[in-house]
Amino acid sequence: MSQNQTPLFSGLLAHAKRNPIQFHIPGHKKGAGMDPEFRDFIGDNALSIDLINIGPLDDLHQPKGIIKQAQDLAAEAFGADRTFFSVQGTSGAIIAMVMAVCGPGEKIIVPRNVHKSVMSAIVFSGSIPVFIHPEIDIDLGISHGITTESVERALQQHPDAKGVLVINPTYFGISADLKKIVEIAHSYNVPVLVDEAHGVHIHFHDELPLSAMQAGADMAATSVHKLGGSMTQSSILNVKEGLVSAKHVQSILSMLTTTSTSYILLASLDVARKQLATKGKDLIDKTIRLAQSIRKRINEIDQLHCIGEEILGSKATFDYDPTKLIISVKELGLTGYDVEKWLRERHNIEVELSDLYNILCIITLGDTEAEADLLVTALKELADECQHRPGKFEPVEVLLPEIPILALTPRDAFYAETEVIPFEESEGRIIAEFIMVYPPGIPIFIPGEIITQENLHYIRKNLEAGLPVQGPEDDEIKTIHVIKEYKAIK
Ligand SMILES: Cc1ncc(COP(=O)(O)O)c(C=O)c1O
Repeated sequence: MSQNQTPLFSGLLAHAKRNPIQFHIPGHKKGAGMDPEFRDFIGDNALSIDLINIGPLDDLHQPKGIIKQAQDLAAEAFGADRTFFSVQGTSGAIIAMVMAVCGPGEKIIVPRNVHKSVMSAIVFSGSIPVFIHPEIDIDLGISHGITTESVERALQQHPDAKGVLVINPTYFGISADLKKIVEIAHSYNVPVLVDEAHGVHIHFHDELPLSAMQAGADMAATSVHKLGGSMTQSSILNVKEGLVSAKHVQSILSMLTTTSTSYILLASLDVARKQLATKGKDLIDKTIRLAQSIRKRINEIDQLHCIGEEILGSKATFDYDPTKLIISVKELGLTGYDVEKWLRERHNIEVELSDLYNILCIITLGDTEAEADLLVTALKELADECQHRPGKFEPVEVLLPEIPILALTPRDAFYAETEVIPFEESEGRIIAEFIMVYPPGIPIFIPGEIITQENLHYIRKNLEAGLPVQGPEDDEIKTIHVIKEYKAIK
């Protein structure tokens, strides 16, 4: 088969054209049994391919037909030995990836700033996380990835780890030296699992950081839906065999996946792969040029700074993705949150994310000069307004919390009996909930860790500085959930 073909999407279209009489789910039967307002809005085309795993349409759980062909083409396009489609986002693929290498009581090396799906996977698998501090960019107030040195140190101390998980690139588009990290991990026979949620496109252009498969990683959970043109929730899990078994990965992914897989999502993966494989280079080329021109124009505006290649060269900033526009707004005397709100209210512009110092705008295959102009014009207006604004916000320093000692596995802590006690009296107890501060988006506590006075102080300082502390049930953090202790009976 060639990369110009779309076996899954074409198979669905041919099936819909035959227009069989359906005595199977979905019960809306091509929309006929659906609320008319929604049906008219979604349209007959989409509803005609909202189908299910009947014989001619293959089955994601045991693909042998059009789904297998589509997955095989994706594997070829992404340089993997096997590719599995996920209808449960990259979160689902990440959980499968971790559970495929780690069981109860086994160690996995992970950066502290992982996505919540990694922590869910650690709870589900019963594994023991060995955390690596990510590098913090004090100037931008964000965390980057992990360094080759820290991976080497972690493996020297824990050569029995079952995997090393790397976020590559980060949400902000920053990459570590992934190839080197893979070499180090493989010298210990430890597989590398890549959270590639923000990097589906990097495989298709040589001006972008190396993709997980190009760097020789063993598995990568990749959000095709985020930057690759498929529909929300559709992702892939790429596997290189050797240290991991694709069959085992497939059976774990299947255990975690609905039996009612959406064929609209699956077909969108098939067509996104075709577009990336056949036109990706040109489309991404245009995207990079557009993003670079916006970056230049933003950097001509007083007091705004759009980060570019000057960020490279530190141990954790080996490469970057220029299609991510990290716009530092702190010199305006505003927070990123303020700017996000201002852009929404004044210009109907929605950004990808904001934090204390920055906003992040992503430029993709779907953008043109028109959107670029709107963003630059809006930012110019904002900068002009700010010149005359009294009472500017003073940036607070983003600090790094110490990582406390883990007394119980996150899974044991999750299932343990808990009690609620006052925050101020919690030193020395084992916490049963997550506490995060954003930025830099790193957990201060995860379930199972011993509460230290130093970390309580860190939380207090962040609350005083007005930084959002997230996670605990009590928003104000006057109380905290800890593992219940039973006193000896006299
Ligand atoms: C770094 C990272 N990993 C994983 C995910 C999960 O991806 P998905 O939303 O496709 O489940 C996200 C989502 O934002 C993410 O930012």
